[in-house]
Amino acid sequence: MTAPNSQVDSQVAGFGPAVPAEELDVREDAQSVASSKSSSTFSWGGGSTPSLPRIDEDVSSNTATSIDSTSWRSSTESIRSSIYNFVEENGRTYHRYKAGKYPLPNDVMEQERLDLQHYLFLLTTNNKLQLAHLPPNSRRALDIATGTGIWAIDFASKYPECEVIGTDLSPIQPAYVPSNCRFEIDDAEDEWTFTEPFDFIHGRALLSCFRDPEHVIQQGFMHLKPGGIMEFQDGIFPMGYIGDMPVDSALYKWNELVMEAAALTSRPWTNVQHYKRWFEEAGFEDVNERRFYWPTNPWAKGKYFKTLATYFHLDLMNGLEGISLKLFGHLGWEVERTRAFLEDVKRDFADPRINGYMTVTFVSGRKPLAANLMIIA
Ligand SMILES: C[S@@+](CC[C@H](N)C(=O)[O-])C[C@H]1O[C@@H](n2cnc3c(N)ncnc32)[C@H](O)[C@@H]1O
Repeated sequence: MTAPNSQVDSQVAGFGPAVPAEELDVREDAQSVASSKSSSTFSWGGGSTPSLPRIDEDVSSNTATSIDSTSWRSSTESIRSSIYNFVEENGRTYHRYKAGKYPLPNDVMEQERLDLQHYLFLLTTNNKLQLAHLPPNSRRALDIATGTGIWAIDFASKYPECEVIGTDLSPIQPAYVPSNCRFEIDDAEDEWTFTEPFDFIHGRALLSCFRDPEHVIQQGFMHLKPGGIMEFQDGIFPMGYIGDMPVDSALYKWNELVMEAAALTSRPWTNVQHYKRWFEEAGFEDVNERRFYWPTNPWAKGKYFKTLATYFHLDLMNGLEGISLKLFGHLGWEVERTRAFLEDVKRDFADPRINGYMTVTFVSGRKPLAANLMIIA
């Protein structure tokens, strides 16, 4: 096995269908920077970020991918949690605190999807929890909208001298965590009440969360120490395509409908493209953006992209219903209509003739050393 480290290795192995060990070593291109550095590196090839994926002509043009998420899905459904008083709708559960604010579920199926997505992010970046350089001697870190807390727990394990706080609307984080890690139920859109500033603030996969992400970024700026770093990692919606837009496909229509419904809830899913500008306008310096790509299925050339595609495929197969049920309700769609439509979306998601991808961006910036602390205790 040549995945980046043994901790991630063993955790990835817990998800079926497993990615074959040799698939995780993606050093197949002659120009691979990985091959010149370390035999345990997972990389896209060269440059600071990958260029857009190229189409793999060897993938049959008329057969769907053989990715099968059935076993993974059924294992998650069998252990649905019943210990929290969550809001129940259509067989899914949603957060109770500030109920109705966030449209995705918080049940075990969604939690397992978030944990799988964590490995997708790690595979994307050659196993880096963040791309920005942390301030020296970082002592306090915050992970807003932490979900299951998996990023915060990994970060706390990696930096035991750093106190790590994760916040979320849902209490879905584990009880047994590193002693330097803790979680709080908190709405990141409320005025932040932390009385001590942070060295590092992180937020990931938040495209569906906020009415006013710009304000959240401004609050992050205020609650950093001078010299502190903030990094957001997120998907740019809607998906992109190589070649012509497949405007007649269910996949394309699903993207359009999600945007339409999200706009109706005043939480547009199209905000991530503005992160860099909002970081700059908030006062951050050295604002940096790096983009990566997750293909929808193995249509893309090279093991790096095919491995990301395997995980992204599972991510969406297991997430489509949770993402869509509540949102499409805002469009007046009945649950059964939504479920039927999603079957078509899944078919397109697996179709290698549709060369779709999600752009994933990492935006970071530093609070100037000369900035005021701006924290009111
Ligand atoms: C897609 S998940 C991402 C979780 C985590 N950041 C990760 O990358 O695994 C979005 C999370 O944001 C949380 N959330 C949504 N709106 C929020 C808000 N206003 N304040 C705090 N958490 C929020 C949801 O409960 C959910 O756990």
